[in-house]
Amino acid sequence: MSKRKRSLSGIKPTGNPHLGNYLGMIGPAIELQEEYDAFYFVADYHALTTVKDPVKMRRLVYEITAYFLAFGLDPERAAFFRQSDIPEVAELTWMLSCVTHMGLLERAHAYKAAKDRGEEKEINHGVFTYPVLMASDILIYDSDVVPVGSDQIQHLEMTRDMAQRFNRAFDGEYLKLPEAKVRKEVATVPGIDGRKMSKSYGNLIEPLAPSKKLRKQVMQIETDSTPLEEPQDPDDCTVVDLYRLVADADEIAEMEDNYRAGGYGYGHAKQDLFEKLDQIFSPRREKYEALREDEAYLEKILAQGADRVRPIVDEVMERVRRAAGLGRII
Ligand code: TYM
Repeated sequence: MSKRKRSLSGIKPTGNPHLGNYLGMIGPAIELQEEYDAFYFVADYHALTTVKDPVKMRRLVYEITAYFLAFGLDPERAAFFRQSDIPEVAELTWMLSCVTHMGLLERAHAYKAAKDRGEEKEINHGVFTYPVLMASDILIYDSDVVPVGSDQIQHLEMTRDMAQRFNRAFDGEYLKLPEAKVRKEVATVPGIDGRKMSKSYGNLIEPLAPSKKLRKQVMQIETDSTPLEEPQDPDDCTVVDLYRLVADADEIAEMEDNYRAGGYGYGHAKQDLFEKLDQIFSPRREKYEALREDEAYLEKILAQGADRVRPIVDEVMERVRRAAGLGRII
């Protein structure tokens, strides 16, 4: 078996990924395929907490698969698979549930947010138990690192906590403790209103949206009302913050100089940001559209990915079932 460290991550299939998903997770995760044994999956079990339409679910899974391939995932190196093709994840979720306190889950951000909205009696049990499923996703592959944005750090801490509790309960090193791998500069990519870019805030820039829509999203970035002629502060503007994440050093320095000199309005800066994004992403957009057409191919990639991770799952599940005294003795 490979001696390389294993990188694992997941993404919920919720439509067009936004720039936060791409810069915070998809890009860094794909880069790790060079050095790590890379396992990435589309989290359809997690999506089931909200998506209740089988046709839509399959469509969303194909879309995310095509996005990862268009963004450069190499299916010969990295395994890309569907979470639900490994149903043992649900079995391990139960085993972890039995060592996890309610108090821990009550501290999870998503549950707390629902509670603050007065919705804790209306959310389904899947939302409450979401962090346990996520821990199972990670632990079932003996993962070493988990590339994610900063909003997932709490889930990673909970994952380590659950692994330790399991190991302590059954007195052995059955589950490996993973580390979050968060890139500082893209840990929280801002959205067009300056808050964290997030589907729930509707403040998105979608790099693979058609050019016209992408331009419209960039033009909607909120800025202050400094008149065009006046100098502006490049360290206090979401347009520059985003430009710094995609442009090269010379281009960034030029935009910063323009800000300080004055006579360069936010409209110009937004146009420069849009052009940069369009230049980076339009070849991928075309690739995405071609891949998305070929569902048989996407299905083949997902099946191949699931086959590739299968031996690890069998090994870990045998280890934990034995530890707990479950299943028949062979
Ligand atoms: P999801 O699908 O919400 O997001 C996918 C990834 O995108 C990152 N991200 C961001 N990074 C930087 N700036 C932002 N504004 C931004 N918005 C989103 C997220 O941090 C994430 O890494 N629970 C996970 C999916 C999951 C998972 C797992 C991840 C299920 N099982 C196991 C890792 C390991 C989620 O909902 O991510």
